[in-house]
Amino acid sequence: MRTGLTVDRNTSVNVYENISKSKRSLFNKPEPFLKWAGGKRQLLDKFEKYFPKKFNNYLEPFLGGGAVFFHLFSTGRLFGKKITLIDSNLDLMNCYRVIKNEIDSLITYLPNGKHRNDENIFYRIREENPNDPVEKAARMIYLNKTCYNGLYRVNRNGRFNVPFGNYKNPLICDTENLIAVSNVLQNVRLIKGDFTECLKYACSGDFLYFDPPYQPISKTASFTGYTSNCFNEKSQERLAEVLKELDRRQCKVMISNSDDSFIKKLYKDFNIEIVKARRAINCKGSKRGEINELVILNY
Ligand SMILES: C[S@@+](CC[C@H](N)C(=O)[O-])C[C@H]1O[C@@H](n2cnc3c(N)ncnc32)[C@H](O)[C@@H]1O
Repeated sequence: MRTGLTVDRNTSVNVYENISKSKRSLFNKPEPFLKWAGGKRQLLDKFEKYFPKKFNNYLEPFLGGGAVFFHLFSTGRLFGKKITLIDSNLDLMNCYRVIKNEIDSLITYLPNGKHRNDENIFYRIREENPNDPVEKAARMIYLNKTCYNGLYRVNRNGRFNVPFGNYKNPLICDTENLIAVSNVLQNVRLIKGDFTECLKYACSGDFLYFDPPYQPISKTASFTGYTSNCFNEKSQERLAEVLKELDRRQCKVMISNSDDSFIKKLYKDFNIEIVKARRAINCKGSKRGEINELVILNY
């Protein structure tokens, strides 16, 4: 039983009716609904020349906020293709599933009185651990919109631990975009699991974009806290093996990572391009600057 507003399907129908026709045309252009650490939104222009011109189906095994997926979709390049999206983060994939299957309940429940931009309410909701999938998704979106820097970060026990953001008027429930995302996800295969799951589905001619947690470039820069499991050198090696297998299958593969000697050695037999990214350049994240990142391609 939900603790907040009772979900009433008639109310959610009104939400749809209240959105003007002109805004509905935006539904074809969904955007990431969460701000995600390591998100690729600001690199999309630089990635353009590396995306393959032609491909069959699309798979993205480190989905996160899905910046590349939403960009490829919104620019018409995924039309008529089978799409498979994978991430190991349970809470994240629950959000995608709820938006796909229970959008009415979510857009009724999320903007109710409980999810307000208030410090006390924020810390109370941060302490909650709901079982209900819609409540879980609403909590995650609410915390993402109201926490400091919109980060998703958990401690060793898997508990969200980002402080209150103190923003003036964050848009907690972006109904139009959530509906647009829901529409897009209707024909998408969503998998909560390890990136190797992609091997079950990838075939010749398919395009796969991999954006793993980056190999830290210094000992202090070791943020990989999207889940409570860390992504270590062994995981990077497993990913390189997956690339070799996909290459044998004649898939088109693009991988992002940090400009690190270990990573360059792992992919020495493939094309390695350098892009400039604006990122936090010290361990506290307070200084920002341009750093090199790698794009690894097998085509
Ligand atoms: C750099 S983020 C992806 C960001 C995404 N490209 C975006 O634009 O928002 C890396 C993602 O990999 C996920 N991840 C970590 N380990 C994983 C694993 N073993 N298999 C699949 N996903 C994993 C994390 O949960 C995180 O969402």
